[in-house]
Amino acid sequence: MLDRRHFLAGAVVVTASGALAACSKKAPASSGGGGEKTITLGFSQVGSESGWRSANTKSVKDAAAAAGITLKFSDAQQKQENQIQAIRDYISQKVDVISFSPVVTSGWDTVMKEAKDAKIPVILTDRQVDSDASLYVTLVGSDFEIEGERAAHLLEKVLAASPVSPVNIAVLEGTTGSAPAIERAKGFKKVLDASHPDWKIVVSQTGDFTRDGGKQVMAAFLQSHPETNVLFAHNDDMGIGAIQSIEAAGKKAGSDIKIVTIDGVHDGFVAMSQGKINAISECNPLLGPQLMETIKTVLNGGTVEKWIKTKESDFTADQAADLLPKREY
Ligand code: AHR
Repeated sequence: MLDRRHFLAGAVVVTASGALAACSKKAPASSGGGGEKTITLGFSQVGSESGWRSANTKSVKDAAAAAGITLKFSDAQQKQENQIQAIRDYISQKVDVISFSPVVTSGWDTVMKEAKDAKIPVILTDRQVDSDASLYVTLVGSDFEIEGERAAHLLEKVLAASPVSPVNIAVLEGTTGSAPAIERAKGFKKVLDASHPDWKIVVSQTGDFTRDGGKQVMAAFLQSHPETNVLFAHNDDMGIGAIQSIEAAGKKAGSDIKIVTIDGVHDGFVAMSQGKINAISECNPLLGPQLMETIKTVLNGGTVEKWIKTKESDFTADQAADLLPKREY
């Protein structure tokens, strides 16, 4: 818990942008005792679309409890209008800080301006927005473009060990308009354009980051593009759904169709240990502790970077069995 004086002082300097986000706050909700105050955080989660999201939700809830932060949590079920409503509710409840993982990149300026006018700092987590950067203090989350580039480099490794020719890639994209879908596609294509002009993306469509979406869309791909011999799925869950359709079509996931995904959740590692996913570019969902630390720094008037990036690794199928028992999510 933080001392009331710190909240009342609360002006936040954001070093990376040089922007000054004035967050002069009224006293936050009382926890009682000793003049100390607890922080109330209003958090709007995207939804519960994937294993990654479940791990992220757990991380946020656990970290808030461990940090003594009172958490108001809402699940937007992948709908922007639900997130906007949740943010407005948090503003009217006069929470101390708002955090959200934006389902899509656009359309946030009005509601973030409302938060700013109410002097409630907004801290983005997980996903970027394309809004005026002065409307939020910082983003705690991954560099999705780099994740896409890393996925392409993992595919280079997979194909070096087990070449196919020609290389016909199907892509299962994440939620249309979301930062991870946009940036992962960009990063992946960047490497293909620079180093593999002969690798062809034969089809690319959204599976909305869900297992069922991956299954349905892959079934359609196999009909329309039977020449597919590589799948790049923007997350593990869509890759796992796709494996079901690949096997139902009598093909072998991981050999007839090489598969590279992003995330590194438990079920992705299980599929990788079975040789059905060839490689995974990690996206770490355990953002809770870093988010709570950032919130405390910001509300104490401290300085934070404009983008606090997550550390991540790459994994190939040969490492999966050893690493699976040690995975935290
Ligand atoms: O924003 C992170 C992405 O959202 C994860 O990669 C995906 O699994 C989730 O749904």
